[in-house]
Amino acid sequence: MWAAFHGSPLDLSIILPISNKPAIGDPLQYLSVREIRTEDLDTVTAIESLSFSRPWTRNMFYQEMGNPRSFIRVAELNGNIIGYICASFVLDEGHILDIAVNSLYRKKGIATVLVNDVLSNLRKFGIKRIFLEVRVSNRSALSFYEKIGFESIGSRKDYYRDPVEDAVTMSCDI
Ligand SMILES: CC(C)(COP(=O)(O)OP(=O)(O)OC[C@H]1O[C@@H](n2cnc3c(N)ncnc32)[C@H](O)[C@@H]1OP(=O)(O)O)[C@@H](O)C(=O)NCCC(=O)NCCS
Repeated sequence: MWAAFHGSPLDLSIILPISNKPAIGDPLQYLSVREIRTEDLDTVTAIESLSFSRPWTRNMFYQEMGNPRSFIRVAELNGNIIGYICASFVLDEGHILDIAVNSLYRKKGIATVLVNDVLSNLRKFGIKRIFLEVRVSNRSALSFYEKIGFESIGSRKDYYRDPVEDAVTMSCDI
């Protein structure tokens, strides 16, 4: 998994389709999570590009959509995609490959909802344990995963590029 891009703040409302309808109160109340569709790819790729220094391409998402051992779930609010998660599984082990939330909607519990959705889907396939990698410098993601019950189990030297950086491997029984 790639680390967050800490570049200059951009107004996502210019780039991403943000509905004119205001989210009233708690956005989680109006949030739905569903399987990704091809028409979601532009928005997902835009969030990805603004979130990572080495983002997945549209084609990488498209290929995962065709992989029977992967799934991508999107969080939708007022008809707009505001986050997504991609996970895969082999035998009884799952792997979170990618997750990001539109920066306008972070710290509102959206990623927690996405991970819980993925965990319940993985359980249906008999998955017992889930793994992920995160850049050592990605403090917000490390805090997020620790908050939801993942623990660090090791590191991978020079796992990432642009910039080259070690990964922390994290895991959680589900
Ligand atoms: C990491 C990320 C997916 C979290 O999404 P989110 O919707 O903001 O997360 P949540 O609101 O569900 O956060 C739940 C908890 O995680 C922790 N957390 C989340 N973001 C945090 C941050 N920036 N700093 C510290 N803790 C954070 C908090 O404990 C939070 O609970 P709280 O709001 O009650 O304090 C989001 O910051 C993101 O898209 N980052 C860019 C992409 C990325 O780095 N993905 C992970 C790659 S491994």
